Amino acid sequence: MLYKRMPIEKESPEEIGYDTIQYNLSESSVTDLKMSELNLSLNDLSLEYIGHRGKPELRELIVKEYSNLDKENVLITNGAAGALFIINTSLLTANDHLIVVRPNYATNIEVPKTIGCSISFIDLQFKKGWKLNPQEIEKAIQPNTKLISITTPHNPTGMLMAEEDINKVISIAEQHNIYLLIDETYRDACFKTPYPVTASKSKKVISVSSLSKAFGLPGLRIGWLICRDEIMMEQFLAAKEMIYISNSALDEAVAYQFYQHKEKFAMAINERALQNFNLLKEWLQKEIRMEAVLPEGGVVCFARFKTVLQIDTEKFYSQLMNKHKTMIGPGHWFSMPDSYMRIGFGWTNDIIFKQGLQNISSAIDESIV
Ligand SMILES: Cc1ncc(COP(=O)(O)O)c(C=O)c1O
Repeated sequence: MLYKRMPIEKESPEEIGYDTIQYNLSESSVTDLKMSELNLSLNDLSLEYIGHRGKPELRELIVKEYSNLDKENVLITNGAAGALFIINTSLLTANDHLIVVRPNYATNIEVPKTIGCSISFIDLQFKKGWKLNPQEIEKAIQPNTKLISITTPHNPTGMLMAEEDINKVISIAEQHNIYLLIDETYRDACFKTPYPVTASKSKKVISVSSLSKAFGLPGLRIGWLICRDEIMMEQFLAAKEMIYISNSALDEAVAYQFYQHKEKFAMAINERALQNFNLLKEWLQKEIRMEAVLPEGGVVCFARFKTVLQIDTEKFYSQLMNKHKTMIGPGHWFSMPDSYMRIGFGWTNDIIFKQGLQNISSAIDESIV
């Protein structure tokens, strides 16, 4: 496969240097946790190879609320990104067809493109509230469709599919014998957990999530996929073993100790995100040159300049970064025009966030033509 770097990764804050950004509104996760906050006990940990599926106790915890899921249905991966790579490369070849939602987290589109399969995009639209219509998925099915790939809560829009619509997509997938990948990485983020892990509903569904976004542990690189199809699980495991054998013993030990107490952290995390979300709503009411469909899940909002606005977009981003030391996610990170922008409200404190929003307004002032 011919790999090409994705703009969202190439231009990411960690690649350009966190210290160059004062107001970082580009993150799609909550505030990163520090080791000292986790109260870990790691001295007895042996740094050996570990079980390739992932720590059994961690896998058990992940599905403990579901009577029809058990640890055998869970594969620990290197972040949700690792799971997405494993799933896409296990299921798709250049002869297959994929149906995928756009805009999307870039990996969900760029990995299949790199594989070279044919792709039908389901384009979500601002004017339709970014809502996904299950019928559009059904219409896009072809004889060689192998995979339907959707993301909910959605990145970058925060759109949340109604459970009823998810159920419709599941029955479409079942009727046509197609696998359904649901990237649920934001399921636990910010607003209340919206619906059961989707893989609990059907053998055709593969759910993906991680500790990165909702819990502020992206540097741990722990994610997972969940699927009840034993044959597929064996293939996913084979892919994982070929790429990296197992996860790191250290990462999994930290993840397990954290996961046992995750509710303790979740409350404070969500409180901060909701506080910033209120600031965002206030700003959007005042900043009449911008418009947005308010997110229903996750910690990002995909706003845009009003179409009547004449703005030098390049200058806008350059002023924002170079003069105001403020970063947001430009539209092109998500295969969209740069008049769209992702504003992350989960990562910074309220003071930084408020100033960051003001800086966006100032950069608009400076870039109107
Ligand atoms: C929808 C979605 N899925 C997966 C990922 C990858 O997350 P990670 O690999 O850190 O778990 C991201 C990261 O931005 C994302 O937005």
